Amino acid sequence: MIPQVLSSGLLVRRVGPGDAAGLQSLVTRSDVLSRYSRFHGAVSRLPSSYLHLLVDRPASEHDALVAELGGRIVALGDLGPVPGEPGVVEVGLLVEAPFRRQGLARLLLDELATRAAARGMSVLRAVVLHEHVPEVRPLLGDRPIVRSWVDESTHGFEIALVGGDRVEHLELRGSARR
Ligand SMILES: CC(C)(COP(=O)(O)OP(=O)(O)OC[C@H]1O[C@@H](n2cnc3c(N)ncnc32)[C@H](O)[C@@H]1OP(=O)(O)O)[C@@H](O)C(=O)NCCC(=O)NCCS
Repeated sequence: MIPQVLSSGLLVRRVGPGDAAGLQSLVTRSDVLSRYSRFHGAVSRLPSSYLHLLVDRPASEHDALVAELGGRIVALGDLGPVPGEPGVVEVGLLVEAPFRRQGLARLLLDELATRAAARGMSVLRAVVLHEHVPEVRPLLGDRPIVRSWVDESTHGFEIALVGGDRVEHLELRGSARR
C-alpha cells in the first residue's frame, strides 16, 4: 500500500513533479557499476526524456515509486510500457548501496506489480545483465515465469501479473520457448 512508512523510517511513495533533483542525486551518488547494472550503459545522469517520464507522467502511463529518508531519495523502482507490446511493462530498480538487503527492491517490485495488474497489465518484464541474474532473479519471487531468453549481455524474464488478460497466451508461448 502506497504511501507507506516502513519500520526503518523509510517512506515509500509515488514519484512526483518535485522529485527531479532528488532522482538525479540518487543516480549521481550511485557507483559506476550500479548505474551500469541499472541502465546497461555508461549513464552518469538520468536523460531528461526519461526523467520527464518518471516525474511527470501519470501511473497509468509510467509508474514510479521511491523510498526516501529525511527527504533524500534512496531507492527508485519504475515500470514503463514496452512500445508495441500492449499489456507488457518493464521494471527498473535502483537502491542506494547502504540501503540494500533490507527488502526495499522486493517491496518496490511487489507494489509496482500489484499496481500494474490493477491497471490491467498482464506481463512484467525484467532485463538483467547476466552477472546480476543471481541477485535480481529472487526479486521476482515465485510468480510464474512465462517467458525467458538470453542474449549476449542480458537475460530477460517475463512474469505473469495476476489478473492480466495475456497470461494464458504467454504461458503457452513461454512453455514452447523455455
Ligand atoms: C539489485 C538491487 C535492486 C537489489 O536491491 P535490494 O533492495 O538490496 O534487494 P532486496 O533487499 O529486496 O533483496 C531481495 C532478495 O534479492 C536477492 N538479492 C538482492 N541483492 C543480492 C545480492 N547482492 N546478492 C545476492 N542476492 C541478492 C536476495 O535473495 C534478497 O533476499 P535476502 O536479502 O533475504 O537474501 C540493488 O542491488 C541495486 O540497486 N543494484 C544496482 C542496480 C541493479 O542491478 N538493478 C537491477 C536491474 S534493473
